[in-house]
Amino acid sequence: MACVPTRSLPANGGDGLYSYTRNSTFQAKWGVEAAKALIKESIAEKLDTKRFVSPLAASTTFCIADLGCSVGPNTFIAVQNIIESLEVKFSSDGLSSETTEFQVFFNDFTSNDFNTLFKLIPCDRHYFVAGVPGGFHGRLFPKASIHIIHCSYALHWLTEVPKEVVDKDSPAWNKGRIDYAYGPPEVHEAYAAQFARDLERFLGAREQELMCGGLMALVVPCLLYGTTAQQCTLIAMGGVLGSCLIDMAIEGLLSENDVDSFNLPRYYASQQELEAVIKRNGSFSIERIELLDRPKINRGNITERLSMVTSYFRALLEGLIKEHFGAEIVDGLFDRFEKKIEESSMLSDPGYKSPGELFILLKRTVA
Ligand SMILES: C[S@@+](CC[C@H](N)C(=O)[O-])C[C@H]1O[C@@H](n2cnc3c(N)ncnc32)[C@H](O)[C@@H]1O
Repeated sequence: MACVPTRSLPANGGDGLYSYTRNSTFQAKWGVEAAKALIKESIAEKLDTKRFVSPLAASTTFCIADLGCSVGPNTFIAVQNIIESLEVKFSSDGLSSETTEFQVFFNDFTSNDFNTLFKLIPCDRHYFVAGVPGGFHGRLFPKASIHIIHCSYALHWLTEVPKEVVDKDSPAWNKGRIDYAYGPPEVHEAYAAQFARDLERFLGAREQELMCGGLMALVVPCLLYGTTAQQCTLIAMGGVLGSCLIDMAIEGLLSENDVDSFNLPRYYASQQELEAVIKRNGSFSIERIELLDRPKINRGNITERLSMVTSYFRALLEGLIKEHFGAEIVDGLFDRFEKKIEESSMLSDPGYKSPGELFILLKRTVA
């Protein structure tokens, strides 16, 4: 089976200080937990159980996949919510949950720390488990074999940095920057086009794997309406990380060429961009699309917030940085990053806006 070549960039594994396990509270509260009620409602209202489960069948296996699951714990929260919602739905539709078994597939890149994921699997679960390694822009499952797909905080990661952005002869060359918001408009355009291509491939694979009538729940970080990429905190912070790399190059700690050839492979799309690609694909109906409400998180005093933001960035980007520049620069880079964020007004200036979390519920249309 052909793989889609992807720069594999899993979040940090293990359970150390900078692991994803210990630095994924934002994603837990603002994405996975904030989507809980919507997923419950979606399963209650939009899943036609009779299509999949016959009251007369001796047993049925219901298959659920979480794509881009990382190492936990958020994936287990999402899966547990889906299973509980299904149990309620089966019971309200008069189906016996005793004859239905749940098979859950946890997917991420082959280089994801699946050992940590497997160690954290809850013992009291009501489902069977399998790990499915591989990039989700290609096929992962047999045709029409999955009933429900979940994917949170993963679709904004691109399969690659657009080639033009690192091509010295292209108007989209992003010299001296690592994010797309501050260069010529061609840089932003190249990223937007890469995002659209990647999402097309993702949907193309899922359209084959999801059963007709099956549901796909996506939580995608996105640019809020009326916000420019430069106003987006996470992109602006990417700009700060880039300026730290430039400082290190000026001090001779790394080469300018290495900085010029490094760009972050992530893109925050708008709701319109996402909808346009989904409609172009044509195999899914958009059953629901809305911004999630962000519950307040106690982020402590400014020192605690600084360290939280730095660890969050490090948990997500350390692997990429090590691969490109070498492990020896990582501590120094993130020390500089924390200092620069502290000196900037980013954590308090209301002119900077966080990305929003878009909840999208798709149903595989009947062919
Ligand atoms: C920020 S983590 C999100 C983890 C979890 N879903 C959550 O909501 O907390 C993003 C995960 O998506 C995975 N990911 C990104 N692109 C992927 C791809 N093309 N195929 C499989 N996994 C991918 C990364 O490896 C990473 O573990």
